Amino acid sequence: MQTAQSNNRPTPRIAIIGAGVCGLGIGWRLAAAGCPVDIFDQGEPGQAASWAAAGMLAARAEVEPGEETLLELNLKAQEIWPAFAAELEAASGMPIDYRDDGTMIVALTRDDAEAIRFTFDLQKRLDLDVHWLSGIEARQREQFLSPNVTAGIHSPSDHQVDNRKLVTALQRAFEAAGGTVHAHTAIRAIDIAQEKVRGVVAATDGDADIHHAADVVVLAAGAWSRDIDGLPTDLRPPVRPVKGQMLSLRMDAEAPLLRHVVWAPGVYLVPRNDGTLIIGATVEEKGFDSDLTAGGILDLLRDTWEALPGITELSVDEMWVGHRPTSRDDAPILGPTTVDGLVMATGHHRNGILLTPITANAVSQYILEGIVDPAIEPFTLDRFAKSRRKRARPAPAGKLGVVS
Ligand code: GLY
Repeated sequence: MQTAQSNNRPTPRIAIIGAGVCGLGIGWRLAAAGCPVDIFDQGEPGQAASWAAAGMLAARAEVEPGEETLLELNLKAQEIWPAFAAELEAASGMPIDYRDDGTMIVALTRDDAEAIRFTFDLQKRLDLDVHWLSGIEARQREQFLSPNVTAGIHSPSDHQVDNRKLVTALQRAFEAAGGTVHAHTAIRAIDIAQEKVRGVVAATDGDADIHHAADVVVLAAGAWSRDIDGLPTDLRPPVRPVKGQMLSLRMDAEAPLLRHVVWAPGVYLVPRNDGTLIIGATVEEKGFDSDLTAGGILDLLRDTWEALPGITELSVDEMWVGHRPTSRDDAPILGPTTVDGLVMATGHHRNGILLTPITANAVSQYILEGIVDPAIEPFTLDRFAKSRRKRARPAPAGKLGVVS
């Protein structure tokens, strides 16, 4: 990557709000390019949605009608994932368990088969690399699936990564590149004056809050992104938390029940290298409620058992709740805003892990070079504006000659 100094542009000071995978990924790219970068997180780095996720990289399997523009972004992200994973593993010195065993969607009843046939037709219309499976063909790929599996879709190009290892690797790579993470440091406000960012105000344990000067502030606070003071009303990203309950079981790593990621009715199953079987997830509009419920876990376990009866003997490892950062149209909010130096990287909904590389690359490219990658152009905040203010989009701080 080009360094910030190599093109004679002054080096901007960066403050990133949120040390999830997107904040850390952007920070890594910018720190590696020579920028001073501080990332602030109200808790431990990467312990919110990035930790709760399942790590599916499944643009094809998860495609929804009407989301063709988002599909393009997701496919692009998927394309760069293998190189991103290799680069990150080299920079961090640790594996992140990118796995390319593929993904299957299975049906148990005739109704399910109708539903996945609809998905398959959509996938084919969009020219995606997917294949129809009979029940027998599905069980040839995954022998422990229930005999009730009547049909399936095989998506060989939809993969997975261990999102918790991804968090650790990104933090290591970011810090090795010279960046600083401020854990347990909530940002109370973004300081904006005359349509230009001046920094952030960080909460401290003591009496006084601390003003941290920055030329560029990246808002990457996930489901908490709209609650930060100082943002003009029209620049508050319309992002809300969508609760998901999940659990994991422990398989024998040498003889796992599954190798593919499998979507069964009501549930998805993600087998990890160490034998963990991730099971997700409920989708609940309950704000930041973080209760695990008997009903939520019962639904997940029953739906899993119907597709994969062998789970009855497995021990339960962990149960947890996450909050997806969901925008009004379920697509991410990326790139510049009408305030000079204020940059968005939020609202990734179900796709935060998948979109990490393209978010890191495109947002850092905008900050360093002032270029908005055409891939993220449809995803800027201004798509939500009811009445567009007639203001020219400013160049990023570095381009305007702000010196660190
Ligand atoms: N991406 C999986 C989920 O949102 O549950």
